[in-house]
Amino acid sequence: MNSFYYYNPTELVFGKDSLSKMKSYFPKNIKKILLHYGKDSIKRSGLHDEVIEILKSNNIEVVELSGVTPNPKLSLVKEGIRICRDEDIDFILAVGGGSVIDSAKAIAAGVYYEGNVWELFTQNVELKEALPIGVILTLPATGSESSSATVINNEETLQKLGLESDLLRPKFAILNPELTLTLPNNQTFAGVVDILSHVMERYFTNTTDVELTDNLCEGAMRAVIANAYKLLENPNDYAARAEIMLSGTIAHSGILGLGREEDWASHRIGHEITALYGVTHGATLSMIFPAWMKYIYKENIKRFTRFSKFVFNVHDDEKTEEEIALLGIEKFEEFLKDIHMPIRLKEENILYDDFNTMAEKCTSSGFVGRFVKLSKEDVIKIFEMAK
Ligand code: NZQ
Ligand code: ZN
Repeated sequence: MNSFYYYNPTELVFGKDSLSKMKSYFPKNIKKILLHYGKDSIKRSGLHDEVIEILKSNNIEVVELSGVTPNPKLSLVKEGIRICRDEDIDFILAVGGGSVIDSAKAIAAGVYYEGNVWELFTQNVELKEALPIGVILTLPATGSESSSATVINNEETLQKLGLESDLLRPKFAILNPELTLTLPNNQTFAGVVDILSHVMERYFTNTTDVELTDNLCEGAMRAVIANAYKLLENPNDYAARAEIMLSGTIAHSGILGLGREEDWASHRIGHEITALYGVTHGATLSMIFPAWMKYIYKENIKRFTRFSKFVFNVHDDEKTEEEIALLGIEKFEEFLKDIHMPIRLKEENILYDDFNTMAEKCTSSGFVGRFVKLSKEDVIKIFEMAK
């Protein structure tokens, strides 16, 4: 196990009554907040009115900034920064999924930064101060509600890049699984793939003696898969929604990666697909992860046989380790098909002509991934396997 430092101050308020408790978690003396959200899902569900009511009854002044798109844009972040400065905002409340939370985090990071906020994503500038943010989560997927990361899309340069700082971890996250009952199936299952991927990026490691986190990862993956099948059967299953919501937060809270070297190649490759084609984050992962597995499994077959045995229950004494490893990958693909996620690039009309550009961008620092370091040529081969 490697040495680590872990800090996660996000207060998690979970359950059907969590929203009514929100006020107690605001920092003292908050006077004016920026209410940040997406298009219209929170208005359709009635959540917007409910939140306004709670804030007004607590004498908190509200400035609204809506319009966060999936794959959140830098231009809106800049508008948010301007509003926060002009209006003297002291807290940002993000109501939505990962895109809204990430947009709120980027605004929070940019408010006190004198230069162009994009420099925080492209240059090694240390973030020294950020506005506090709170979250009401409506889509379990990214884990951004307690993670230290934000991922923003620069529409001008076609780059999708991340920024990480413990200062960006939300102060609190309201997690009411009932708020996820309005999700269309494609968003629910894209979220499921993202959650699984956050576990797998940590699970596939060469770090040894990490038995506790190996077991936590395997248990998390089994729980996510089992509850995804329950939601396929009945999208209104509250208990399954609750399991998925908690899994999403835990998967990316940092706990599952403690003491382990993490990989993250599939995410970086997936971000290039989103930057160029606007494909939903979870869908990029369901196309790339299986191809990545098939390309690299031989580098550490034992890790993959363990994945097959303890996540997909593949036990067969007649089979070789390699056959068992491949069966696990096959079962993973079957699961993705069962939940109607794309597993081939052609399903999302990704063009062969762009493989080179995307591979070049995600390996601009020389390589991508840590479980196996991938060169540009490797990434092109992974794209080819996912065709
Ligand atoms: O805009 P509205 O109308 O709210 O609709 C949204 C949006 O269209 C809708 N939605 C959200 N909650 C709903 C709902 N519709 C009905 N009922 C509800 N309860 O869902 C759509 C997608 O929302 P989005 O926030 O884009 O999805 P997600 O949570 O999957 O976030 C994806 C973004 O997060 C980034 C991704 O790259 C992507 O940009 N990630 C952030 C991470 C982090 N900060 O730690 C880590 C992740 O790996 C990921 O990269
Ligand atoms: Zn993700």
